[in-house]
Amino acid sequence: MKRVAVYPGSFDPMTNGHMEILRRALSVFDEVIILVAVSPTKKSLFSLGERFAMIKEATKELPGVSVDMTEGLSINYAREHGAIALVRGLRAATDFEYEFKMAAGNRFVDPKIDMVFFMSAPAFTFLSSSTIKELFMHGTDISPLVPLAVAEALKKKLNEIKK
Ligand code: COA
Repeated sequence: MKRVAVYPGSFDPMTNGHMEILRRALSVFDEVIILVAVSPTKKSLFSLGERFAMIKEATKELPGVSVDMTEGLSINYAREHGAIALVRGLRAATDFEYEFKMAAGNRFVDPKIDMVFFMSAPAFTFLSSSTIKELFMHGTDISPLVPLAVAEALKKKLNEIKK
């Protein structure tokens, strides 16, 4: 029986921090479905479809990875797709409180699906999608911090905004 996990996030956009968590999740699970989900508290720079396309391109060489998107609950998606766990990354203690609350919500909906957390590598603990967007919009070369597909999408989005 394949061990399948769902890695939900807003990924607006995906960073190398997410990619690092993904690679480590692939060492534990046979398949990881990256789920682009709607974060109720965020206004996104990229549409769900744009984020989906970036992640597809960034992960096309990784066996065992698939990408999907949902406007529903991540936990329901996980159950409907036979996943045994939801994967999340933890960067610092500040993440724990937020994740603890979300995990409690998920457990209320379906206690049979576990949350599996990977600690971010030290090099990526400062990283977040917001930080990437802010640095990029102020002219910083963020290419070492994001997949190539994301760097290209950011350049395209900036040109659209400047029009
Ligand atoms: N390295 C670098 N950055 C990381 C990271 C890592 N390993 N892990 C998380 N981050 C950053 C993200 O870039 C993001 O940055 P941002 O806030 O600047 O955008 C931030 O940490 C939050 O991480 P993310 O994984 O994008 O989570 P989110 O909080 O944006 O999204 C959802 C949370 C989408 C998974 C959650 O809202 C969800 O499941 N929504 C679907 C509806 C649902 O199920 N709701 C009920 C939940 S109980």
